[in-house]
Amino acid sequence: RRVTRVHHLAQMKAEGEKWSMLTAYDYSTARLFDEAEIPVLLVGDSAANVVLGYDTTIPISSDELIPLARAVVRGAPHALVVADLPFGSYEAGPQQALATAVRFFKEAGAHAVKLEGGERVADQIATLTGAGIPVMAHIGFTPQSVNGLGGFRVQGRGDAADQLIADAIAVQEAGAFAVVMEMVPADLAGQITRKLTIPTVGIGAGHETDAQVLVWQDMAGFTHGKTARFVKRFADVGGELRGAAARYADEVRRGVFPGPEHSY
Ligand code: KIV
Ligand code: NA
Repeated sequence: RRVTRVHHLAQMKAEGEKWSMLTAYDYSTARLFDEAEIPVLLVGDSAANVVLGYDTTIPISSDELIPLARAVVRGAPHALVVADLPFGSYEAGPQQALATAVRFFKEAGAHAVKLEGGERVADQIATLTGAGIPVMAHIGFTPQSVNGLGGFRVQGRGDAADQLIADAIAVQEAGAFAVVMEMVPADLAGQITRKLTIPTVGIGAGHETDAQVLVWQDMAGFTHGKTARFVKRFADVGGELRGAAARYADEVRRGVFPGPEHSY
């Protein structure tokens, strides 16, 4: 089984082969997803939500994300590991973005970084790619800008479609190797996918993108409360784990566990 690196994703687009990306935040799940042959793992700043319990991705820092990225790299010998640059770590300009991305490369061993924004971060993308750091862009609904966007809303509707197309072209021209499109109308995502030479990765962007991404806790039924429309639950890991914990506690209470077979 081959290792996935950025040029393979370009190759897959050329061959019309769709691929998937999942988030991962630790060694154990990274191992499982690598064994499942998920070609790209994202150490998302969604760790702020699903690992640290915040309402938004805004509070998480590089100091918090880097150890998670390092663990995912250790757990996934085949996957391309992409790490999110957190809010506040790249907006000031290309030099700030470079300093942050270098940390994710040197301290975590990430293979690529992802940052949010289109035209407004084109300079950052150009500087990183110029330094040999592959960049995945992220346009449409960008969670770090939730306050500016006025909530969790579909982007690129109506007149905003032209700006989304301009953002997609800008990140491609700046050197991004792929672009995530989050919560955009399926037709528009398809149109952008056909227009771009780099792969598009959809989340709430319909089925015409070159790839898909989901937060693993969402797709495996491990998140609390209501999930977004774009989430499909492929398993009920939360229910399984809750059940295992309850059965363990019950057996301890009843003196059933540990049995002789677990004892020395
Ligand atoms: O942080 C994240 O999980 C993401 C994906 C949902 C694209 O950015
Ligand atoms: Na993210």
